[in-house]
Amino acid sequence: MSTHDLPSEPPALQPLLNPLSNQEVRARVLALAEPADQALTANLKSHVPYIEEVSGYIIFSGGKRLRPVLFLLAARALGHQADPRHAAIFEYLHAATLLHDDVVDDAGLRRGRPAARVKYGNDAVILVGDFLFSKSYSLSVEVADHRFVQALTDCTTHMAEGQVLELLHTDDLDLSHEGYLKVIVAKTAVLLAAACQMGAIHAGADQATVRAFYDYGMELGIAFQMVDDALDYVGSEHEFGKPVGHDLEEGKITLPFIHARDHAAPQARQRLLELTRRSRQEPQALPEAQEIIRRQGGVEATMAWANHHAARAQAALAPLLAQGRPSLDLQTMLGLASYVVTRRA
Ligand code: IPE
Ligand code: IPE
Ligand code: MG
Ligand code: MG
Ligand code: MG
Repeated sequence: MSTHDLPSEPPALQPLLNPLSNQEVRARVLALAEPADQALTANLKSHVPYIEEVSGYIIFSGGKRLRPVLFLLAARALGHQADPRHAAIFEYLHAATLLHDDVVDDAGLRRGRPAARVKYGNDAVILVGDFLFSKSYSLSVEVADHRFVQALTDCTTHMAEGQVLELLHTDDLDLSHEGYLKVIVAKTAVLLAAACQMGAIHAGADQATVRAFYDYGMELGIAFQMVDDALDYVGSEHEFGKPVGHDLEEGKITLPFIHARDHAAPQARQRLLELTRRSRQEPQALPEAQEIIRRQGGVEATMAWANHHAARAQAALAPLLAQGRPSLDLQTMLGLASYVVTRRA
């Protein structure tokens, strides 16, 4: 991520380019997800049928397919039809991180149904997650351009660091906005960045173009995780398909908390810190802490930051937009930036 100074106030909302309606964006994503879905089934073979069962349970449970679609879109935006087998890499990686994440987060619900760990147990999902990571690598070595596998291993190394960094910041009530950004870049945004970057590499793009796609995915990913963190405070479990109100319960300090802590009057701030500390032993303290965060505008500020990063994602595509009327694929990429900040699921 390019560094930029972080003002203490959330940025004013700036209008996002939105060449397509959210409905059109979703329809485009669904259409592109179809070939990726077929590749997901075709490549899930294992000598151990149980692995196929557990993998299939998480993979075919209705995810948005954002990452494989970003890969295909980036390649298409450069006039290249990428092999859907290689799009599968990104959903396998994503599924692996979700399997592991639900263990780490002690989560019981994923994509609107019991998390795989509830059905199969933590041991099984950790091991199957490793299998899916490995599948991703073996698919990636099919691509001759050495930048492809390099980008993938850079990404997964960074992601592992992200989850560990988040773990180290558990219950860290002093976590700064910068520290939080580091965590979400690593645990989430690098995968969206790599999907776009590797789509451009697949298309044989030059380094500057590859970089533009990487930057787009990175900023989109930051916006995406910020919205995820906002929805944890105000989303509906029914729409979101996973637990809400869970982050603070698990000691995950995210931007809504950080904003509220840094903008509340001293008394409210003290109360928030005291309740959060107390909630480790007394879960009854949690709802009031969450209420203070909402009342202090933590959710709106987080959404304003997400909007800022979505605008930066769109700006990263400027060199491509300068080349004339944007293709439908570029329009979809622009539209996705606007979609991520309005999503509820
Ligand atoms: C969930 O990602 C994990 C985060 C990075 C917040 P998605 O919201 O893309 O999950 P699915 O694949 O649609 O279920
Ligand atoms: C996303 O963070 C981490 C991953 C990369 C899987 P979360 O822990 O917030 O993801 P959800 O909310 O459980 O999907
Ligand atoms: Mg989680
Ligand atoms: Mg997590
Ligand atoms: Mg979350």
